[in-house]
Order: sequence, then structure tokens, then C-alpha cells
Amino acid sequence: MTPEASGDGAIADVLLRPLQWQDIPELVSMDLEAFPYDAWSAETFWSELARVPQAAFYVVAARGRRLDGYAGIAYIDSDAHLQTLAVSPNSQRSGLGRQLLSVVLAEAIRHGASRCLLEVKIDNLPAIALYTSVGFTELGTRPGYYPGGETALVLVRDFEEAS
Ligand SMILES: CC(C)(COP(=O)(O)OP(=O)(O)OC[C@H]1O[C@@H](n2cnc3c(N)ncnc32)[C@H](O)[C@@H]1OP(=O)(O)O)[C@@H](O)C(=O)NCCC(=O)NCCS
Repeated sequence: MTPEASGDGAIADVLLRPLQWQDIPELVSMDLEAFPYDAWSAETFWSELARVPQAAFYVVAARGRRLDGYAGIAYIDSDAHLQTLAVSPNSQRSGLGRQLLSVVLAEAIRHGASRCLLEVKIDNLPAIALYTSVGFTELGTRPGYYPGGETALVLVRDFEEAS
């Protein structure tokens, strides 16, 4: 990971590093806890990892032998898409989500993306507060986007405007 992508405001004892295949079983459990109705399977994590580095970037937060969080983006043309972001319940509200997000956004800028898009459940107020606090704005909604029928809010952050 490049120095600028290692994130500002490092959190004690937490190492941010690229996702490795050995992390996948633990990520599957964490994902089920974070997204009970639309969690990713091991196969999905494997196929995402196979897209790194040309078409995707994934980072994990490791505290000793345990993982505390993860985030990933994929590139489509000049857009970066935030694919996932989660922090273990015991480690939430300590700045880790913000740090993971800043690492993937820095990596998207380094990669040459012109903007970052994401979908978030319209009632996920903690995540929406995080995204808007770093400059994401609303692009629209996608009714019925999630398997449970919930609406997605589509947010965008334009890197060219920000720089
Ligand atoms: C969203 C998530 C990643 C945030 O991670 P986190 O480590 O708790 O976030 P941080 O401590 O870095 O907080 C960053 C900002 O997010 C917002 N935020 C986080 N948790 C919040 C909460 N429970 N209520 C309101 N705002 C919250 C705040 O704006 C916060 O900034 P502040 O601490 O200066 O007020 C975490 O709640 C999570 O994993 N949720 C489950 C998975 C999920 O919903 N992921 C997003 C999918 S789109």
C-alpha cells in the first residue's frame, strides 16, 4: 500500500493492509454479521480478489490476528464504485470506518478515477453520515435495489471537483 493510501489518523494496534486470500473465511463471517440479508459468499470475495489490482482494490484492518474491518472499490471505466465497507461491531465509532474509506478513496484517486459512486440503504443513517461527511452527495435512488426490497440511495463524490 502506498504511503498516502495508508490513511490519516492511524488507530493504535490496527494495521491497514491489502486483502489476502487467507482473510476470506474471516471476512465471510464478518460480512454475514454486517449484512445479514445480502452478505457476500466466499466465492464473491474470491472473484473480487481476482480483479485486484487492475479492476479493484481491497483493504483490511488487522488487529493482531483478528480482522476489525474491510473496504473495497472496483473500477468501471473512469468511475470507482465502493463495493463494501464494514467495521466489527466492537470496533465501531473509533474512526476505523472513516480511515478505511479514506484509504480506498485515496487509492481510487491514485488509480485515476474521476469520481466514486456507492449505494447505501436509505435507512442506514450511520453510513450515510460517514459518506456525506467526506463529500459524497446524493445522485438519486434505486427503489427495490436490495434483496429485501429496500431502496438504495446512490451517492457520488467527484474527485475533480475536490482537487
Ligand atoms: C458504517 C460503518 C462502516 C462506520 O464505521 P465506524 O468505524 O463506526 O465509523 P467511524 O467511527 O469512522 O465514524 C465516522 C463517521 O460516521 C458517522 N457514524 C458512524 N456511526 C454512527 C452512528 N452509529 N450514528 C451516527 N453517525 C455515525 C459519523 O458521522 C462519524 O463521524 P464522527 O465520529 O465524527 O461523528 C459501520 O457502522 C458499519 O460497519 N456498519 C455496518 C455495515 C454497513 O452498514 N456498511 C456500509 C454499507 S453502505
